Amino acid sequence: MKISFSGVKLDKIETLALGVLDGGALTPQGKAIDKQLKSLISRTIEGFQFKGKAGSVHLLHTPAGAPFAQIALFGLGKAKELDEKTARKAGGALGKHLDTAGLKAASVVVESPKGALLDDAQLAAELAFGAVLKSYRFQKYHTKLTPDQKPALAKLAFLTDSHKTAKQAFDVHASVAEGVFLTRDVVSEPANVIYPESFAEKFKALTALGATVEVLGEKEMKKLGMGSLLGVGQGSVRESQLVVVRWNGGAKKDEAPVAIVGKGVTFDTGGISIKPAGGMEDMKWDMGGAGVVLGLMHALAARKAKVNVVGVAGLVENMPDGNAQRPGDVVTSMSGQTIEVINTDAEGRLVLADALWYTKERFKPKAMINLATLTGAIIVALGKSRGGLFSNNDKLAGQLFKVGEKEGERLWRLPVGEEYDSHIKSDIADMKNVGKPGQAGSISAAQFLLQFVGDTPWAHLDIAGVAWAYEEIDTARKGASGFGVRLLNRFIAEQYEK
Ligand code: BES
Ligand code: MN
Ligand code: ZN
Repeated sequence: MKISFSGVKLDKIETLALGVLDGGALTPQGKAIDKQLKSLISRTIEGFQFKGKAGSVHLLHTPAGAPFAQIALFGLGKAKELDEKTARKAGGALGKHLDTAGLKAASVVVESPKGALLDDAQLAAELAFGAVLKSYRFQKYHTKLTPDQKPALAKLAFLTDSHKTAKQAFDVHASVAEGVFLTRDVVSEPANVIYPESFAEKFKALTALGATVEVLGEKEMKKLGMGSLLGVGQGSVRESQLVVVRWNGGAKKDEAPVAIVGKGVTFDTGGISIKPAGGMEDMKWDMGGAGVVLGLMHALAARKAKVNVVGVAGLVENMPDGNAQRPGDVVTSMSGQTIEVINTDAEGRLVLADALWYTKERFKPKAMINLATLTGAIIVALGKSRGGLFSNNDKLAGQLFKVGEKEGERLWRLPVGEEYDSHIKSDIADMKNVGKPGQAGSISAAQFLLQFVGDTPWAHLDIAGVAWAYEEIDTARKGASGFGVRLLNRFIAEQYEK
């Protein structure tokens, strides 16, 4: 979808979109247009009880001779609640409605109402961002789409006097949207297409944007002593990979980076502790954490972020096999700590154990944040609207929580700490990879990760409930959400690029 910004000129427009406030009130420009149309808009609002709720859209066709063939009324909600999140929701709903109606282009009159939290330029940029985010569809494997199943809306123009400022703000959003789409692409791909080596190739493409990318294979990881990560991949015919992406946009190139680490299990059968068949296909997106690392690094490089960031992705496939690891096996992690593998399906933490330790040792990051579709238990605890947040640092946790609220990628903090060490105590090794039956499974997993981060300020985001939207959300249709890219992009911008 092509997005453009220009001044307000209302001639030669087929479809005009007009914001409506809560209760059905029109903005001053809306009123002027309504007058021109002999109160068609206000009569429609009354007749259809269109109340201007944010996210609602009503499309009306005008009589012959009217200056516009269609008018799309879209709700903006209450002026004093009109913030970024609401504007994106409204933009997303508008774009989707126009597209579903089969319209190819539309022009949106942008006018921020009195008392709104955004000015005209911001409102235009956020509406546009919302429309773009919601437009994503993964359709590459459909070979028989009928024209009405294909995207129709190709052009969305935003009309405002502050179009130059709006465009500047949107250009940054567009880089982030590219990153989000990249994440959604790899998360949507099936596991016969995205496996550790092919996933690593996607990372290598980031060099075109000025990032540096290294890929470690099994031989290198063995040398480093990564017995925990390698144990997970040992039943797969696909070679495990560890990817390191560096974006050094900071003023001081030698300044310690922020590190983002992702779980990249390209398919999780559970291994010998095999999962039931029903729903197992979902485990193609068990690489969602690493998918966020890919999309985020793309976003940072594309918008030339003034910050040093390192992204690390542990890529493995968890398969049952004659060579697969067994329940009861003891592996030695790169940290030297030994792990009793009670359940081969608790594999994400085994991958992260070595990825986190490696990142901490090599880069001494200022802060280290990992993302992982780590536990089904986080869905039991928080449902599908918030990700789990675990941290050894209150300040970092507080920053992430707040950014999540603003960005609409929301988190909720759960504890880690010594009192949970008993959950992962092993009779035969330094720790075991599962907790106590029926007790705080997501916390046990986080407590396990904590053993591999030392004193580094660290946060773990358990995104098992939010990486995939089973129902549409404000910023995405059904499918891969890309949850985490916008959150961490904004976190980095606000905390480290000032
Ligand atoms: N990848 C799964 C977690 C998961 C479940 C992600 C559902 C997305 C949706 C993870 O590797 C796993 O299997 N975890 C186990 C841990 C258990 C064996 C301690 C789980 O959650 O059941
Ligand atoms: Mn598993
Ligand atoms: Zn998994």
